[in-house]
Amino acid sequence: MNTTNLHLVRHAATVTRHRRAALFGHRSAVLWFTGLSGAGKSTLAHAVEESLHQRGSHTYVLDGDNVRHGLCSDLRFSLEDRSENIRRIGETAKLFVDAGCIVLTAFISPLRIDREQARRLFEVGDFFEIYCRASIEICEQRDIKGLYQKARRGEIKEFTGISSPYEEPIQPDLIIDTGAESLEDSVERVLAFLLLRDVLKPSPS
Ligand code: ADX
Repeated sequence: MNTTNLHLVRHAATVTRHRRAALFGHRSAVLWFTGLSGAGKSTLAHAVEESLHQRGSHTYVLDGDNVRHGLCSDLRFSLEDRSENIRRIGETAKLFVDAGCIVLTAFISPLRIDREQARRLFEVGDFFEIYCRASIEICEQRDIKGLYQKARRGEIKEFTGISSPYEEPIQPDLIIDTGAESLEDSVERVLAFLLLRDVLKPSPS
């Protein structure tokens, strides 16, 4: 919705994002995990969060299967509803970044344009697209939730990778081969990436 005619006047906070970050000892950022259902986005996001939490970082995971019970419970899986889902998550992640958190989002987010629009909400260096790369064959073989089988039987319509598209990222900030790598290695790679991008500071040794 265009908000230009709503007579809204933004209030500037005195406690800024950078003051919050200084208190927390790390930069805030969004780690946007994308990939097929069953690729391991949520597992990786939560494992990274666990590691970050143990370092004393302020974190929060926004996860598709959870958020769709509340904030997005009115949405289904048409491409239009998915776009609205991603728009809301982008805006929510932005609030968390402003609050000084490292926010990890785990959504299929199948369309490039939706992911790009989410990225545009952030300053350069605040939004990192992390592609959890696992082939449809591997995800279907794993079928942890039994959804691929249902989709093949036609019991779930518009299922990503079967009857609805997934557009692979062209230039993601990081690719994790969740189809092949161990969870431990994947977590290490994400943490190393965060150090490299100055989200985290090296721990004093
Ligand atoms: S997104 O496409 O809008 O980003 P989101 O990540 O929120 O999707 O939700 C995906 C999860 O919803 C899947 O992991 C799966 O558990 C469940 N799901 C239910 N129906 C579908 C469907 N048609 N396509 C994909 N995932 C589905």
